[in-house]
Amino acid sequence: MSDSVPSPQEIADSLATRVFGQDLAIREIAVALSKKLAGLAAGNVLLIGPSGSGKTTAMRAVEWFLSSSPALAQRSTLVRVHANILAQEADQGAPGERLLHRLLARAEEQLGAACTVPALLDRVAHGIVFIDEVDKIRARIGSQAHVPGIRAQEALLTVMENERLPLTLPASSGGGRVFLDTRGILFVAAGAFEGLYDAVYDRVTVGQDRGSLQPVTVLDTEGVRERTDFSLREWMRSKDLFDYGLSPQFLSRFDGVVLLEDLDETDLLKIFLGSPDSGLESATKFLARFGVDLVLSPEAARLIARKAADQPRLGARALKEVFRRVIRDREFAPTEGAVDGALVIDEAEVREALARS
Ligand SMILES: Nc1ncnc2c1ncn2[C@@H]1O[C@H](COP(=O)(O)OP(=O)(O)OP(=O)(O)O)[C@@H](O)[C@H]1O
Ligand SMILES: [Mg+2]
Repeated sequence: MSDSVPSPQEIADSLATRVFGQDLAIREIAVALSKKLAGLAAGNVLLIGPSGSGKTTAMRAVEWFLSSSPALAQRSTLVRVHANILAQEADQGAPGERLLHRLLARAEEQLGAACTVPALLDRVAHGIVFIDEVDKIRARIGSQAHVPGIRAQEALLTVMENERLPLTLPASSGGGRVFLDTRGILFVAAGAFEGLYDAVYDRVTVGQDRGSLQPVTVLDTEGVRERTDFSLREWMRSKDLFDYGLSPQFLSRFDGVVLLEDLDETDLLKIFLGSPDSGLESATKFLARFGVDLVLSPEAARLIARKAADQPRLGARALKEVFRRVIRDREFAPTEGAVDGALVIDEAEVREALARS
Protein backbone atom coordinates (compact mmCIF):
# COMPACT_ATOMS: atom_id res chain seq x y z
CA MET A 1 0.00 0.00 0.00
CA SER A 2 1.37 3.44 -0.85
CA ASP A 3 1.91 5.55 2.27
CA SER A 4 -1.18 7.64 1.97
CA VAL A 5 -3.92 6.38 -0.30
CA PRO A 6 -4.50 2.72 -1.16
CA SER A 7 -5.13 2.25 -4.87
CA PRO A 8 -8.38 0.73 -6.14
CA GLN A 9 -6.45 -2.43 -7.06
CA GLU A 10 -5.02 -2.73 -3.55
CA ILE A 11 -8.44 -2.25 -2.02
CA ALA A 12 -10.04 -4.72 -4.45
CA ASP A 13 -7.36 -7.34 -3.72
CA SER A 14 -8.02 -6.97 -0.06
CA LEU A 15 -11.81 -7.18 -0.39
CA ALA A 16 -11.44 -10.21 -2.67
CA THR A 17 -10.02 -12.21 0.24
CA ARG A 18 -13.53 -12.08 1.76
CA VAL A 19 -15.89 -11.54 -1.16
CA PHE A 20 -15.67 -14.17 -3.89
CA GLY A 21 -16.80 -13.49 -7.45
CA GLN A 22 -18.65 -10.15 -7.78
CA ASP A 23 -15.65 -8.48 -9.43
CA LEU A 24 -17.67 -5.60 -10.88
CA ALA A 25 -19.14 -4.69 -7.52
CA ILE A 26 -15.76 -4.90 -5.84
CA ARG A 27 -14.14 -2.71 -8.46
CA GLU A 28 -16.84 -0.07 -8.13
CA ILE A 29 -16.58 -0.05 -4.34
CA ALA A 30 -12.78 0.01 -4.47
CA VAL A 31 -12.69 3.05 -6.76
CA ALA A 32 -15.20 4.94 -4.59
CA LEU A 33 -13.28 4.09 -1.44
CA SER A 34 -9.91 5.02 -2.90
CA LYS A 35 -11.26 8.41 -4.01
CA LYS A 36 -12.81 8.89 -0.60
CA LEU A 37 -9.59 8.09 1.21
CA ALA A 38 -7.80 10.50 -1.11
CA GLY A 39 -10.14 13.22 0.13
CA LEU A 40 -11.89 13.54 -3.24
CA ALA A 41 -15.57 13.37 -4.10
CA ALA A 42 -16.63 9.79 -4.62
CA GLY A 43 -19.85 8.81 -6.36
CA ASN A 44 -22.44 6.94 -4.31
CA VAL A 45 -22.92 3.29 -5.19
CA LEU A 46 -26.08 1.18 -5.35
CA LEU A 47 -25.62 -2.59 -5.28
CA ILE A 48 -28.42 -4.79 -6.56
CA GLY A 49 -28.07 -8.53 -6.28
CA PRO A 50 -29.87 -11.73 -5.45
CA SER A 51 -30.26 -12.83 -1.85
CA GLY A 52 -27.11 -14.46 -0.50
CA SER A 53 -24.88 -13.15 -3.30
CA GLY A 54 -22.57 -11.12 -1.06
CA LYS A 55 -23.97 -7.60 -0.63
CA THR A 56 -23.79 -7.49 3.14
CA THR A 57 -20.55 -9.47 2.96
CA ALA A 58 -19.07 -6.76 0.73
CA MET A 59 -20.07 -4.07 3.23
CA ARG A 60 -18.57 -6.04 6.08
CA ALA A 61 -15.41 -6.56 4.05
CA VAL A 62 -15.03 -2.79 3.67
CA GLU A 63 -15.49 -2.34 7.42
CA TRP A 64 -12.85 -5.00 8.01
CA PHE A 65 -10.50 -3.42 5.45
CA LEU A 66 -10.80 0.02 7.03
CA SER A 67 -10.26 -1.32 10.52
CA SER A 68 -7.34 -3.52 9.47
CA SER A 69 -4.84 -0.68 9.60
CA PRO A 70 -4.73 2.02 12.26
CA ALA A 71 -3.88 4.64 9.63
CA LEU A 72 -7.03 3.85 7.63
CA ALA A 73 -9.18 3.53 10.74
CA GLN A 74 -8.01 6.98 11.76
CA ARG A 75 -9.13 8.43 8.44
CA SER A 76 -12.60 7.01 8.09
CA THR A 77 -15.81 7.00 10.06
CA LEU A 78 -18.30 4.44 8.89
CA VAL A 79 -21.78 3.39 9.93
CA ARG A 80 -23.99 0.63 8.54
CA VAL A 81 -27.75 0.94 8.88
CA HIS A 82 -30.63 -1.24 7.92
CA ALA A 83 -33.02 0.75 5.73
CA ASN A 84 -35.97 -0.47 7.82
CA ILE A 85 -34.52 1.44 10.77
CA LEU A 86 -34.48 4.59 8.66
CA ALA A 87 -38.14 3.99 7.87
CA GLN A 88 -38.97 3.60 11.58
CA GLU A 89 -37.05 6.75 12.39
CA ALA A 90 -38.80 8.56 9.58
CA ASP A 91 -42.05 7.80 11.40
CA GLN A 92 -40.69 9.33 14.58
CA GLY A 93 -39.34 12.51 12.94
CA ALA A 94 -35.89 13.92 11.97
CA PRO A 95 -34.61 10.67 10.45
CA GLY A 96 -31.83 12.26 8.39
CA GLU A 97 -30.50 14.00 11.45
CA ARG A 98 -30.44 10.73 13.35
CA LEU A 99 -28.27 9.22 10.67
CA LEU A 100 -25.76 12.01 11.11
CA HIS A 101 -25.95 11.56 14.90
CA ARG A 102 -24.91 7.97 14.32
CA LEU A 103 -21.85 9.11 12.41
CA LEU A 104 -21.16 11.64 15.15
CA ALA A 105 -21.35 8.99 17.87
CA ARG A 106 -19.02 6.75 15.89
CA ALA A 107 -16.56 9.62 15.39
CA GLU A 108 -16.64 10.30 19.12
CA GLU A 109 -15.80 6.67 19.82
CA GLN A 110 -12.88 6.87 17.41
CA LEU A 111 -11.47 10.24 18.40
CA GLY A 112 -12.19 10.09 22.14
CA ALA A 113 -14.23 12.36 24.37
CA ALA A 114 -11.55 15.07 24.44
CA CYS A 115 -11.95 15.72 20.71
CA THR A 116 -13.18 19.15 19.57
CA VAL A 117 -16.60 19.63 17.97
CA PRO A 118 -15.15 20.95 14.65
CA ALA A 119 -12.95 17.84 14.40
CA LEU A 120 -15.97 15.62 15.02
CA LEU A 121 -18.05 17.46 12.45
CA ASP A 122 -15.29 17.12 9.91
CA ARG A 123 -15.39 13.35 10.41
CA VAL A 124 -19.16 13.33 9.95
CA ALA A 125 -18.96 15.46 6.82
CA HIS A 126 -16.51 12.93 5.33
CA GLY A 127 -18.09 9.78 6.69
CA ILE A 128 -19.18 6.61 4.95
CA VAL A 129 -22.77 5.40 5.26
CA PHE A 130 -23.82 1.89 4.29
CA ILE A 131 -27.54 1.41 3.85
CA ASP A 132 -28.37 -2.25 3.73
CA GLU A 133 -31.68 -3.67 2.45
CA VAL A 134 -32.45 -0.41 0.68
CA ASP A 135 -35.18 -2.17 -1.29
CA LYS A 136 -37.21 -2.24 1.96
CA ILE A 137 -37.79 1.50 1.61
CA ARG A 138 -39.53 1.31 -1.73
CA ALA A 139 -42.12 4.00 -2.20
CA ARG A 140 -44.68 1.58 -3.52
CA ILE A 141 -45.46 -2.08 -3.05
CA GLY A 142 -47.44 -3.24 -6.05
CA SER A 143 -49.96 -0.49 -6.65
CA GLN A 144 -50.04 0.60 -2.98
CA ALA A 145 -48.10 3.59 -1.68
CA HIS A 146 -45.62 2.57 1.04
CA VAL A 147 -45.50 5.60 3.31
CA PRO A 148 -42.55 4.62 5.55
CA GLY A 149 -40.51 3.99 2.39
CA ILE A 150 -41.45 7.34 0.89
CA ARG A 151 -40.46 9.13 4.10
CA ALA A 152 -37.20 7.25 4.43
CA GLN A 153 -36.19 8.07 0.85
CA GLU A 154 -37.03 11.71 1.44
CA ALA A 155 -34.98 11.71 4.62
CA LEU A 156 -32.02 10.27 2.79
CA LEU A 157 -32.42 12.86 0.05
CA THR A 158 -31.94 15.62 2.60
CA VAL A 159 -28.65 14.16 3.81
CA MET A 160 -27.25 13.17 0.42
CA GLU A 161 -25.31 15.98 -1.23
CA ASN A 162 -26.66 18.83 0.85
CA GLU A 163 -24.44 21.91 0.96
CA ARG A 164 -25.96 23.31 4.14
CA LEU A 165 -27.86 20.86 6.26
CA PRO A 166 -28.99 22.18 9.65
CA LEU A 167 -27.96 19.81 12.40
CA THR A 168 -28.86 19.94 16.09
CA LEU A 169 -25.95 18.63 18.10
CA PRO A 170 -26.72 16.25 20.93
CA ALA A 171 -25.83 17.46 24.44
CA SER A 172 -22.86 15.06 24.51
CA SER A 173 -21.32 17.03 21.61
CA GLY A 174 -21.93 20.40 23.22
CA GLY A 175 -25.50 21.01 21.99
CA GLY A 176 -26.42 23.90 19.69
CA ARG A 177 -27.17 24.03 16.01
CA VAL A 178 -24.67 23.91 13.16
CA PHE A 179 -24.75 23.63 9.37
CA LEU A 180 -23.08 20.71 7.70
CA ASP A 181 -21.93 20.24 4.12
CA THR A 182 -22.75 16.57 3.45
CA ARG A 183 -21.36 16.41 -0.09
CA GLY A 184 -18.30 14.56 1.19
CA ILE A 185 -20.24 11.64 2.66
CA LEU A 186 -20.07 8.42 0.66
CA PHE A 187 -23.25 6.37 0.52
CA VAL A 188 -23.24 2.73 -0.47
CA ALA A 189 -26.69 1.15 -0.57
CA ALA A 190 -27.58 -2.46 -1.28
CA GLY A 191 -30.69 -4.53 -1.76
CA ALA A 192 -31.95 -7.76 -3.29
CA PHE A 193 -34.89 -6.08 -5.08
CA GLU A 194 -36.84 -9.29 -5.09
CA GLY A 195 -39.21 -9.40 -8.03
CA LEU A 196 -37.18 -6.96 -10.13
CA TYR A 197 -35.78 -9.70 -12.35
CA ASP A 198 -39.25 -11.02 -13.16
CA ALA A 199 -40.63 -7.51 -13.68
CA VAL A 200 -37.94 -6.63 -16.22
CA TYR A 201 -38.23 -10.00 -17.93
CA ASP A 202 -41.98 -9.49 -18.25
CA ARG A 203 -41.53 -5.97 -19.60
CA VAL A 204 -39.32 -7.11 -22.45
CA THR A 205 -41.17 -10.31 -23.27
CA VAL A 206 -44.91 -9.97 -22.69
CA GLY A 207 -45.28 -6.47 -21.22
CA GLN A 208 -44.88 -2.89 -22.35
CA ASP A 209 -41.77 -3.55 -24.44
CA ARG A 210 -42.84 -6.95 -25.66
CA GLY A 211 -40.79 -8.25 -28.48
CA SER A 212 -37.59 -6.45 -27.38
CA LEU A 213 -36.18 -9.75 -26.21
CA GLN A 214 -36.40 -12.15 -29.09
CA PRO A 215 -35.66 -15.85 -28.80
CA VAL A 216 -32.68 -16.97 -30.85
CA THR A 217 -32.55 -20.15 -32.84
CA VAL A 218 -29.70 -22.40 -31.84
CA LEU A 219 -28.44 -25.68 -33.13
CA ASP A 220 -26.98 -28.00 -30.52
CA THR A 221 -26.79 -31.69 -29.70
CA GLU A 222 -30.56 -31.76 -29.16
CA GLY A 223 -31.21 -30.31 -32.60
CA VAL A 224 -32.62 -26.93 -33.57
CA ARG A 225 -34.16 -25.05 -30.63
CA GLU A 226 -35.40 -21.59 -29.72
CA ARG A 227 -33.63 -20.08 -26.75
CA THR A 228 -34.20 -16.82 -24.90
CA ASP A 229 -31.10 -15.33 -23.29
CA PHE A 230 -32.07 -12.82 -20.67
CA SER A 231 -29.74 -10.97 -18.35
CA LEU A 232 -30.90 -8.29 -15.97
CA ARG A 233 -27.68 -6.38 -16.56
CA GLU A 234 -28.45 -6.04 -20.25
CA TRP A 235 -32.12 -5.13 -19.96
CA MET A 236 -32.62 -3.20 -16.73
CA ARG A 237 -33.25 0.53 -17.15
CA SER A 238 -33.66 3.29 -14.57
CA LYS A 239 -37.37 3.18 -15.24
CA ASP A 240 -37.54 -0.35 -13.86
CA LEU A 241 -36.12 0.94 -10.58
CA PHE A 242 -38.61 3.82 -10.55
CA ASP A 243 -41.40 1.30 -11.14
CA TYR A 244 -39.99 -0.79 -8.30
CA GLY A 245 -40.36 2.19 -6.01
CA LEU A 246 -37.14 4.21 -5.96
CA SER A 247 -37.92 7.85 -6.57
CA PRO A 248 -36.07 9.41 -9.54
CA GLN A 249 -34.44 11.98 -7.23
CA PHE A 250 -33.24 9.25 -4.88
CA LEU A 251 -31.89 7.09 -7.68
CA SER A 252 -30.14 10.07 -9.27
CA ARG A 253 -28.01 10.43 -6.11
CA PHE A 254 -26.25 7.20 -7.06
CA ASP A 255 -23.53 7.47 -9.68
CA GLY A 256 -23.00 3.76 -10.04
CA VAL A 257 -25.63 1.05 -10.07
CA VAL A 258 -23.98 -2.34 -9.97
CA LEU A 259 -25.69 -5.67 -10.46
CA LEU A 260 -24.17 -8.58 -8.59
CA GLU A 261 -23.99 -11.97 -10.24
CA ASP A 262 -25.75 -15.18 -9.31
CA LEU A 263 -23.07 -17.33 -7.71
CA ASP A 264 -22.23 -20.48 -9.66
CA GLU A 265 -20.84 -23.76 -8.40
CA THR A 266 -17.22 -22.60 -8.73
CA ASP A 267 -17.87 -19.41 -6.72
CA LEU A 268 -19.75 -21.42 -4.12
CA LEU A 269 -16.86 -23.84 -3.79
CA LYS A 270 -14.47 -20.93 -3.21
CA ILE A 271 -16.82 -19.47 -0.60
CA PHE A 272 -17.21 -22.83 1.11
CA LEU A 273 -13.46 -23.43 1.29
CA GLY A 274 -12.22 -19.87 1.73
CA SER A 275 -14.74 -17.67 3.47
CA PRO A 276 -13.88 -16.84 7.08
CA ASP A 277 -17.53 -17.25 8.08
CA SER A 278 -18.31 -20.43 6.16
CA GLY A 279 -19.85 -23.42 7.93
CA LEU A 280 -16.70 -25.41 7.17
CA GLU A 281 -14.53 -22.92 9.01
CA SER A 282 -16.75 -23.03 12.06
CA ALA A 283 -16.97 -26.85 12.12
CA THR A 284 -13.18 -27.09 11.68
CA LYS A 285 -12.65 -24.83 14.68
CA PHE A 286 -15.19 -26.70 16.76
CA LEU A 287 -13.71 -30.14 16.06
CA ALA A 288 -10.20 -28.81 16.68
CA ARG A 289 -11.27 -28.07 20.26
CA PHE A 290 -11.62 -31.84 20.67
CA GLY A 291 -8.25 -32.51 19.05
CA VAL A 292 -9.85 -33.58 15.76
CA ASP A 293 -8.58 -32.36 12.40
CA LEU A 294 -11.52 -32.11 9.95
CA VAL A 295 -10.54 -33.07 6.40
CA LEU A 296 -12.95 -32.85 3.47
CA SER A 297 -11.99 -34.60 0.27
CA PRO A 298 -12.03 -32.27 -2.79
CA GLU A 299 -14.87 -34.35 -4.28
CA ALA A 300 -16.89 -34.03 -1.08
CA ALA A 301 -16.46 -30.25 -1.09
CA ARG A 302 -17.43 -30.02 -4.75
CA LEU A 303 -20.55 -32.09 -4.18
CA ILE A 304 -21.61 -29.76 -1.37
CA ALA A 305 -21.09 -26.74 -3.66
CA ARG A 306 -23.06 -28.45 -6.45
CA LYS A 307 -25.98 -29.24 -4.15
CA ALA A 308 -25.95 -25.63 -2.92
CA ALA A 309 -25.95 -24.36 -6.52
CA ASP A 310 -29.16 -26.34 -7.05
CA GLN A 311 -30.92 -23.91 -4.68
CA PRO A 312 -30.23 -20.59 -6.42
CA ARG A 313 -32.75 -18.60 -4.39
CA LEU A 314 -30.61 -18.94 -1.28
CA GLY A 315 -27.30 -17.92 -2.86
CA ALA A 316 -24.34 -18.85 -0.67
CA ARG A 317 -26.64 -19.37 2.31
CA ALA A 318 -27.50 -22.71 0.70
CA LEU A 319 -23.96 -23.87 1.52
CA LYS A 320 -24.63 -23.61 5.21
CA GLU A 321 -27.91 -25.47 4.87
CA VAL A 322 -26.35 -28.31 2.83
CA PHE A 323 -23.23 -28.57 4.98
CA ARG A 324 -25.30 -28.62 8.17
CA ARG A 325 -26.95 -31.82 7.01
CA VAL A 326 -23.53 -33.35 6.37
CA ILE A 327 -21.80 -32.28 9.56
CA ARG A 328 -24.65 -32.44 12.09
CA ASP A 329 -23.97 -35.92 13.48
CA ARG A 330 -20.20 -35.47 13.27
CA GLU A 331 -20.38 -32.35 15.41
CA PHE A 332 -22.49 -34.15 18.00
CA ALA A 333 -19.80 -36.81 18.48
CA PRO A 334 -16.58 -35.03 17.49
CA THR A 335 -14.06 -37.76 18.23
CA GLU A 336 -16.12 -40.67 16.90
CA GLY A 337 -14.79 -41.90 13.59
CA ALA A 338 -11.54 -39.93 13.80
CA VAL A 339 -8.45 -41.93 12.85
CA ASP A 340 -5.11 -40.70 14.22
CA GLY A 341 -6.77 -37.40 15.09
CA ALA A 342 -8.18 -36.84 11.58
CA LEU A 343 -11.82 -37.07 10.59
CA VAL A 344 -12.07 -37.52 6.84
CA ILE A 345 -15.36 -36.83 5.09
CA ASP A 346 -15.50 -38.17 1.56
CA GLU A 347 -17.97 -37.86 -1.28
CA ALA A 348 -19.82 -41.06 -0.32
CA GLU A 349 -20.46 -39.72 3.17
CA VAL A 350 -21.83 -36.44 1.78
CA ARG A 351 -24.06 -38.31 -0.62
CA GLU A 352 -25.36 -40.56 2.12
CA ALA A 353 -25.94 -37.71 4.61
CA LEU A 354 -27.88 -35.72 2.04
CA ALA A 355 -29.98 -38.71 1.05
CA ARG A 356 -30.79 -39.35 4.73
CA SER A 357 -31.90 -35.85 5.70
N1 LIG B 1 -19.73 -13.31 -2.87
C1 LIG B 1 -19.56 -13.88 -1.66
N2 LIG B 1 -18.32 -14.09 -1.17
C2 LIG B 1 -18.15 -14.67 0.04
N3 LIG B 1 -19.15 -15.09 0.84
C3 LIG B 1 -20.40 -14.91 0.39
C4 LIG B 1 -20.66 -14.29 -0.86
N4 LIG B 1 -21.98 -14.23 -1.04
C5 LIG B 1 -22.53 -14.77 0.06
N5 LIG B 1 -21.58 -15.19 0.92
C6 LIG B 1 -21.81 -15.91 2.19
O1 LIG B 1 -23.22 -16.16 2.31
C7 LIG B 1 -23.79 -15.53 3.44
C8 LIG B 1 -24.90 -14.59 3.00
O2 LIG B 1 -24.32 -13.55 2.22
P1 LIG B 1 -24.74 -12.00 2.36
O3 LIG B 1 -25.22 -11.76 3.74
O4 LIG B 1 -23.62 -11.17 1.89
O5 LIG B 1 -25.95 -11.97 1.34
P2 LIG B 1 -26.73 -10.72 0.78
O6 LIG B 1 -26.35 -10.54 -0.64
O7 LIG B 1 -26.54 -9.57 1.70
O8 LIG B 1 -28.22 -11.29 0.83
P3 LIG B 1 -29.60 -10.60 1.30
O9 LIG B 1 -30.13 -9.86 0.12
O10 LIG B 1 -30.47 -11.79 1.61
O11 LIG B 1 -29.30 -9.75 2.48
C9 LIG B 1 -22.68 -14.81 4.15
O12 LIG B 1 -22.57 -15.34 5.44
C10 LIG B 1 -21.41 -15.10 3.38
O13 LIG B 1 -20.57 -15.91 4.15
MG1 LIG C 1 -27.77 -8.67 3.08
